[in-house]
Amino acid sequence: MHLTDHDRAMRDGAEGDAIAAAMDLLIRYGEGLGAEVLCDVRNVAGTSTQPTPAKTIIAKEHGWDKAFSVINLDSDADIAIPPMRVPTCQLQQGFNDEVLSISPYRSELVELQDGAESFASEKGINILATCTPYQVGNLPTRGEHVAWMESSAVIYANSVLGARTNCEGTASTGSAGLTGRIPCWGNHREETRRGTHLIESDVRVESFLDWGMLGYFAGDVVGEQRPVLSGQLARPTLTDLKHLGAAMATSGGVEMFHLPGVTPEARTIEEAFGDTVPATTVHYTAADRAHVYETLNDQGSSTDVDFVLLGCPHASVEQMAEIARLLDGRKLHPDTRLWVMAPRALRDVADRNGVTAAIRAAGGQVLTDSCPAMSRTAPEGTRVFATDSAKQAHYLPAILDIEAWFGTTRDCIEAALTGRWKGELR
Ligand code: F3S
Repeated sequence: MHLTDHDRAMRDGAEGDAIAAAMDLLIRYGEGLGAEVLCDVRNVAGTSTQPTPAKTIIAKEHGWDKAFSVINLDSDADIAIPPMRVPTCQLQQGFNDEVLSISPYRSELVELQDGAESFASEKGINILATCTPYQVGNLPTRGEHVAWMESSAVIYANSVLGARTNCEGTASTGSAGLTGRIPCWGNHREETRRGTHLIESDVRVESFLDWGMLGYFAGDVVGEQRPVLSGQLARPTLTDLKHLGAAMATSGGVEMFHLPGVTPEARTIEEAFGDTVPATTVHYTAADRAHVYETLNDQGSSTDVDFVLLGCPHASVEQMAEIARLLDGRKLHPDTRLWVMAPRALRDVADRNGVTAAIRAAGGQVLTDSCPAMSRTAPEGTRVFATDSAKQAHYLPAILDIEAWFGTTRDCIEAALTGRWKGELR
């Protein structure tokens, strides 16, 4: 790999041990990928404070610098960590103490979280505590090289914002924050951002549910390639695009899609493909739509729902307001819990406009900082949950060994109010 003089100086220790370890990692990583150079980044989004068993042990026995060295720099040395060199934010992390009275989440994890958060803050890491940093003001410009983790955020950054990032990891984002560099390969390069498959929707895609199901279908079809979506598509909202991308990155490993006329690198279908020839054209039919719905509901058997989970990826203000509107002043079924996951900064907005109070008055919770999949927790005794998120319906049954129902936000709220799943595809 070609290194600049500055890259070499960092690697050789001219700027301290932490920078040297970070650059060593980035060079090993880049060479493993076949990258020819590193590129500058000035926007890093990673997870430096997520509580893990390994981090718990290291932090307790050796302190936070050592924990960061091992987990975020892949180094066994106990290195003093300097402040981040470029703007860096914390994505998802562990739950805060709000969940202690409503789930079996352990208080020692909250304490660990507080310690990690204090350490990260001292190093200049902005604690956004959400998988949707783009919803709370962390917005790279079009064409900007960034280093982001979290598949739903990465696909949003590449596709909707036109920024450039691969799906990075804990160590590569830790190293990028300290050096301002990342291997320049994959989505950073113009020639690997063009579409590969044309997905033509023969059915009208307009609702939040349908954007998620189209995404789940497209991810399954293209795997790790880049779909171009066309056909009977309404103009999506930010919330629809968030759901679409998260679903695509769930059934497949998609990191970028094009929606001609909507996403910035594809004013037309032709521009989406550039010089490349689509590998194939696939039609999304009514039968495909029904199949996706069945697949996302094949992990539910009991219709007694004891938990409803909304806000994956973290909810927008509009989603929270819609939930409050659907609750319409009614109370939850006594045996059913409702959790809405949101960025803390957006819950502040919901607090001020009365939405949080309306959800709480029904018996629900608006929680921040994490989610049941990341923190591996749910209300005590949960056996069957319902969600409007294709991503949660896909992952949570395996993570928590529970049954799942997938449907519209309205179906989910009805389940929260009645304790019964009555959703069906309309
Ligand atoms: Fe975010 Fe958790 Fe969903 S990290 S995308 S709310 S699984």
